[in-house]
Amino acid sequence: MQSVRVPATGAPRAWPLYWAHGREAEAGMRVLIAYRSKYGGTEACARALAERIQGDTVLADLRRRPLPQPRSFDVVLVGGSIYGGRIQREVTWFCESHEEDLLSRPLGLFICCFYTGERAQTQIREAFPESLYNHAFGRAHLGGTLHPASLGLLDRFLVRSLGSPPGDVNRTRAEEIEALARATVQAGAVPAGRSAPR
Ligand SMILES: Cc1cc2nc3c(=O)[nH]c(=O)nc-3n(C[C@H](O)[C@H](O)[C@H](O)COP(=O)(O)O)c2cc1C
Repeated sequence: MQSVRVPATGAPRAWPLYWAHGREAEAGMRVLIAYRSKYGGTEACARALAERIQGDTVLADLRRRPLPQPRSFDVVLVGGSIYGGRIQREVTWFCESHEEDLLSRPLGLFICCFYTGERAQTQIREAFPESLYNHAFGRAHLGGTLHPASLGLLDRFLVRSLGSPPGDVNRTRAEEIEALARATVQAGAVPAGRSAPR
């Protein structure tokens, strides 16, 4: 499998760790972060989420195969970046083909993009199937990054029409990454004696 398992690090695991630190996942909580990134901005956000969530977290690039099955996880996060107002088709495909499984467990959604405020909210709403959007415990806009030198010719041309400033731009929203990580840990916390849906 091409996905990357992020080893749990940090504090000892005798306690439900989110009690101790308000953030780290309960021991054994399995989290899937499925993402699509064109130039690496969303991938960096997915990795930052994984580091903050800890637990047993798997990062899965939606371009690669085979992909992990969402039903094997206690919580799933799905995200991608916005180009021309739309999320990548791999994200749409993953959401549609696993809709039932994604509706049966805690789900968080995220996008990376440049627009903010109401425009960003609209982009999130339109990026995911309505059923998943309504079901999600979190719908986060994690900001955007741009390195013009790394863009393909067409993207370089298109991005000028967005009014993007010249030079590298990093508008990653660290506080949103932190908030989604916290919400993920809380969403995956199950009462003692019960296991999350598999
Ligand atoms: C050609 C191009 C088109 C873009 N279109 C949009 C857009 O419609 N809305 C938006 O908010 N951001 C847009 N962006 C900004 C990207 O979503 C942002 O740079 C994001 O961080 C890219 O993430 P990635 O490197 O993971 O693909 C665009 C960027 C490029 C290069």
